[in-house]
Amino acid sequence: MHSMANSLTISILVFLLCVSADGARQVPYTINTNNGRFLSCLNSDVGICKSMVETQGYSCEEHTVTTTDGYILSLQRIPAGRSGVTADKPPVLLQHGVFSDATTWLVNTPDQSLGFILADNGYDVWLANTRGTKYSSGHTSLSPSDPAYWNWSWDELAAYDLPASVQYVYDQTGQNLHYVGHSLGTLMALAAFSKQQSLNMIRSAALLSPIAYLDQITTLLGKAAAYSMIGDALYWLGIDEFLPGGEAVTNFMNGICNITNIDCSSEFSLTSVVAGPPCCISPSTMDAVAKYGPQPTATKNMLHLAQMVRQGTIAMYDYGSEDDNNEHYGQPTPPVYNMSSILNDLPLFLAHGGQDYLSDPADVQTLMGALSDHDADKLLVLYPEEYAHLDFTLAGNANQVVYDPIMGFFSLN
Ligand SMILES: *[C@@H]1O[C@H](CO)[C@@H](O)[C@H](O)[C@H]1NC(C)=O
Ligand SMILES: *[C@@H]1O[C@H](CO)[C@@H](O)[C@H](O)[C@H]1NC(C)=O
Ligand SMILES: *[C@@H]1O[C@H](CO)[C@@H](O)[C@H](O)[C@H]1NC(C)=O
Repeated sequence: MHSMANSLTISILVFLLCVSADGARQVPYTINTNNGRFLSCLNSDVGICKSMVETQGYSCEEHTVTTTDGYILSLQRIPAGRSGVTADKPPVLLQHGVFSDATTWLVNTPDQSLGFILADNGYDVWLANTRGTKYSSGHTSLSPSDPAYWNWSWDELAAYDLPASVQYVYDQTGQNLHYVGHSLGTLMALAAFSKQQSLNMIRSAALLSPIAYLDQITTLLGKAAAYSMIGDALYWLGIDEFLPGGEAVTNFMNGICNITNIDCSSEFSLTSVVAGPPCCISPSTMDAVAKYGPQPTATKNMLHLAQMVRQGTIAMYDYGSEDDNNEHYGQPTPPVYNMSSILNDLPLFLAHGGQDYLSDPADVQTLMGALSDHDADKLLVLYPEEYAHLDFTLAGNANQVVYDPIMGFFSLN
């Protein structure tokens, strides 16, 4: 009761701060509550359509879809270009990566952001937001303050979130769709497609910074963090929500930076040491990204990713013992996602960068090896050498380097 009263007080406080900030400069008020959750009022009541799309002169629709395990996800649709001409090309679903949400496709200028560019080129644009992010934090029976709300990893994103969003867009439009994923959004797709999940509604998939194998990641910090998390799995499993900027994660990262002797003092340098040095992201874009804030994810999801770094496999979440795996999967080791069972005629566009520490070129080669039977004319690879992980969504020149080729690929499929 005590903590409920507390969060009520804090909610009222945030509400008052937001109201008083309204009309003035948009100031992100962030309050660190007792349990480490941040409450931010920045655009909190208006949603992505109002705050980021309509402000640029585009029409936009807010939608929600409920997954079969009860998570209520928001989707934004941009049904027409800036000129007002309604889309005459197929729907495209954009799926963001971890710590991010749909804002990542909109944060640059309309001529630089994939969400707007696709709309201006006649595509019916749909933006997904995975469970746990700010605009997809609803659930039919749980709240983000319940540990059970955070009981998932990317297994569930592939098994529930992706199918729900794809089915919803299909039902609304009556058309098969193109898929664009970045980072974790590629892993969700590869995992789902390897089980033929949702494929009957997919026209093609463009995977930016593909993640399937992670054992070659070049970032010392990422490796140290992964090994350390697995070593302390019991502690971490008690945290439920992995919140960048929250106390547990901040202390953890400070410790890792210290033992690896890496300077993590600014957000920009931290991004560079983890995801690779971006070639082409302007400081104002980084500021805008920081304004929308990193999004939380489940600690279980981070542990699952850490397992991939250590084990070099693309498999389901490892419960840590043969008994526990037997209980969940009926076998002592977690079932593997078989990349070779992705249908050979699924049109695939893989874009990966030479400076990407997370989607490392060596790991992408492993994925390419698993796809070696793929129809040659259905697999396109783009390799901008200067690109790091975040350049694919945020670089000022991604319109020419990546998005034009993607639209060329779509027009063939
Ligand atoms: C988490 O989900 C698994 C099944 O996926 C279940 O076995 C386990 O009991 C759940 N744990 C909690 C804390 O809800
Ligand atoms: C880093 O580690 C050293 C030695 O373990 C310790 O003395 C120091 O206080 C740490 N610094 C920070 C900023 O945590
Ligand atoms: C993966 O799928 C391919 C193609 O369907 C199959 O030949 C191969 O045996 C599978 N591998 C495993 C480990 O199941």
